[in-house]
Amino acid sequence: HTRIFRVAIDGPAASGKSTTAKLLAEKLGFGYIDSGAMYRAITFKCLRMGISPADPKNATEIGKLAAATTITFPNMTSVILDKKEDISSEIRSSTITSNIGGVAANKKVREALAEMQRGLARGDYPETFEGRKGVTHHGKSIMGMVMDGRDIGTVILPDAELKVFLIADSQIRAQRRYDEMVKRNKLESGETVEKIKAELEQRDHEDRTREVSPLKQASDAVELDTSYLTIQQQVDAIEKLILDRMDHFQE
Ligand code: CDP
Ligand code: CDP
Repeated sequence: HTRIFRVAIDGPAASGKSTTAKLLAEKLGFGYIDSGAMYRAITFKCLRMGISPADPKNATEIGKLAAATTITFPNMTSVILDKKEDISSEIRSSTITSNIGGVAANKKVREALAEMQRGLARGDYPETFEGRKGVTHHGKSIMGMVMDGRDIGTVILPDAELKVFLIADSQIRAQRRYDEMVKRNKLESGETVEKIKAELEQRDHEDRTREVSPLKQASDAVELDTSYLTIQQQVDAIEKLILDRMDHFQE
């Protein structure tokens, strides 16, 4: 393998991780890995099999299920379950979001997904980098990948070439999610900004306080508050950090 420049983007829900990561990957010709989609995929599989993620009695079974699952990202938007099923849109439902906590807190699930995520970042699944060209930096061609999540900089890729921790005011994050639902015509009846804000804060609390791999800023991560930034400003700021670090990147 040639060495891959790894960018880890972590932060609370709706801080702008996936939007920023995808645009960066597009701009730089890097691979993009949405680790949250992998927790969503396991939750999807559990629910379809009638296994409740919230019931502690199911923890062992869910851990085994995760270890026997493959999740791949053949292009910037698709999430493929077990090499055959495109579940990209199914995993975004509110049912999945409200059931994900039990899956994300499961130690065996995290171990299985961690191994897959490190493999994805190393290039073990070639579809991640299909058609990606990387950047030419000072005459050198460099391939990279952006992975977003909660524990990428702390646990999954502790030696990532760049770690970014995105934060934003929770009122602003809730408003963004609300606007996104309106735009996609996905606003469910009774949904309000306040309700979304409460749900985001509850999930952040669960993510920050769980025992295994909690949401936490790595000591060497660059913090970026996106509350009053445009998406373009977020992308530009991180792109600059990437290009600066590439000066010292040995392939
Ligand atoms: O987009 P949003 O922030 O709402 O969610 P996501 O990134 O798809 O992640 C959904 C959930 O998966 C999070 O609330 C976490 O509980 C879990 N997750 C995690 O535990 N570790 C990761 N690296 C990524 C997601
Ligand atoms: O991946 P994560 O849950 O951290 O957030 P996201 O889904 O990338 O972003 C949440 C919403 O905020 C999306 O609709 C973005 O378009 C929007 N947004 C943003 O990310 N940054 C801004 N400066 C303004 C809006």
